[in-house]
Amino acid sequence: MASSYAVCRLHMRGRGSLGKCLQRLDTFLHRSIGSDVVAAQAEAARRDGSDVKYGSKSLYVVQAERQEQAERSVLISCHSRTNEKKFLKDLSKHGDIKKHFFYESYGVYAVVEFSSQESVASLLEGANIPTVSHESMVPFKSRLLSLRNFNSVDSSNQQAGQQRQPQTTPPINELMQRLSREESIDHQITHLTESYQLTEENIRLRFLVCSLLKDIAAAYFPECTIKPFGSSVNGFGKLGCDLDMFLDLDGISGRNVKMPKSGLSLEYQMKRASSERAVTQSILSVIGECVDQFGPGCVGVQKILNARCPLVRFAHQPSGFQCDLTANNRVAMKSTELLYLYGELDPRVRCLVFTIRCWARTHGLTSSIPGAWITNFSLTVMVVFFLQRRNPPILPTLDQLRELAGPADKSVIEGNDCTFVSNFSKIPLHSNTATLEQLLCEFFDFYATFPFSKMSINIRKGKEQNKPEVTPLHIQNPFETSLNVSKNVNASQLDRFVALCQESTWLLQQRENNTPRRHTEGNTTGPWGLVQLLMPLQVAGVKSRKGKRREAASERIKSLLESLKNKN
Ligand code: CTP
Ligand code: MG
Repeated sequence: MASSYAVCRLHMRGRGSLGKCLQRLDTFLHRSIGSDVVAAQAEAARRDGSDVKYGSKSLYVVQAERQEQAERSVLISCHSRTNEKKFLKDLSKHGDIKKHFFYESYGVYAVVEFSSQESVASLLEGANIPTVSHESMVPFKSRLLSLRNFNSVDSSNQQAGQQRQPQTTPPINELMQRLSREESIDHQITHLTESYQLTEENIRLRFLVCSLLKDIAAAYFPECTIKPFGSSVNGFGKLGCDLDMFLDLDGISGRNVKMPKSGLSLEYQMKRASSERAVTQSILSVIGECVDQFGPGCVGVQKILNARCPLVRFAHQPSGFQCDLTANNRVAMKSTELLYLYGELDPRVRCLVFTIRCWARTHGLTSSIPGAWITNFSLTVMVVFFLQRRNPPILPTLDQLRELAGPADKSVIEGNDCTFVSNFSKIPLHSNTATLEQLLCEFFDFYATFPFSKMSINIRKGKEQNKPEVTPLHIQNPFETSLNVSKNVNASQLDRFVALCQESTWLLQQRENNTPRRHTEGNTTGPWGLVQLLMPLQVAGVKSRKGKRREAASERIKSLLESLKNKN
């Protein structure tokens, strides 16, 4: 029962998340403590041929369900005082509405999911082409609509006619105040995770935007799909993160060719290109042009076709998402699946990743502008590696996941072995009872003393390996093993990361910092625990409190002045 202790400490708020937490807890307990029991049940199921489903769905299954849901949904720009009741009553004339919600992004929008696609077709049938006297319209019809019927606007009261779902994180100051009122660092970490992670509504909106874009791309490739990948779906996405999309042409690309046993054998005549990269570039160029010229709500389209991974970047105004559309990027899809799996295996994984990502952002270690900074993806891989290195390990290595794979899991993409198990119930977990607070402190300590100059971070082996190249930080790409995920990081950024890890370890080790601070007067609560770690001045201030560090810092300044003098 030891594992249950750590998990039970995860305090989740809200009915939805409490339910999810309990479900995960149940899954987790089944796998970690009762892995023998689960294995025996699975074996029994295999013997009698029944299909027993345990625990989490694979990302593949989740994606398919969400995509189907998105196809039955529409996005409608509303009035801020649209009366929800009247609005739904009018829409339901086209069919049953399964779910709807309102949100705000350059105006108020509603996402409406119908029970069937026929309802969407009926709704679109009744929609009109706008008539504007001084402008012309590109006659591209889509499931992005505007409400022109002012009957449903509430003119009576001043208040908004509908409840709106937040699509952004709370302001950092407000969050810090809320975290200060928590009872323990573990509670602070789960509170932060809850406030930052993507909501159900935001995930739906992401899939809907992919589905709307698919309608544009389908003009050229009717069987294509557009799938989200990266943090939108790997479980580590923060509200407001970008939307990475992958134009999947596998349905038409002949990868799953069936040879007829007899009769005519026909094939399509197709244009040839010099390389797969050239094909990707030309497809993205055309789709990018289409999005730019015809895509409703798509603005600031940039075609970045000479990048290692060619992409089309744009902003989707109605959702507020910054979008990156790629094609032929199946390895990234696999790394997304892998991170999703790691996040599902133990609830502590996501909590730690959110905390480290937030910590890195508040200290300027990560940025939304490309540069020599560590990326969120690299940080996530570093957390996974750290959890593989616990004793006993909290996460299995990628090689172990590969060994557990069945024949259907086999996957080789562009010569890279991307095979790993998709059935979560096959993965045995060790019972490690560390609390989030302990793990956070150990994380900082682990990387404060990691031999970055000689060793590489390798989640395939779950062990540091000799660095194959001279770069400050080497994190092996889990599938394209010759690539370094953190190639962009320069020495000074790595130094900052290490220094902040050292200082954060020190802060967490001070007993007085780790208990709630209640000021008697006015019953206010002072910053403590995680809040202190997230305060830039607080962490930087450690330098001046520690004699040793002060000396080191002044040494650095001295040598900087020396070098400037020499240059002059
Ligand atoms: N990726 C990769 N190798 C890299 C960078 C990215 O395989 N060197 C893949 C990962 O699957 C990653 C995805 O591309 O999750 C999207 O990359 P990015 O947007 O940079 O990272 P996210 O994980 O989406 O994080 P963020 O929230 O910062 O967007
Ligand atoms: Mg991303």
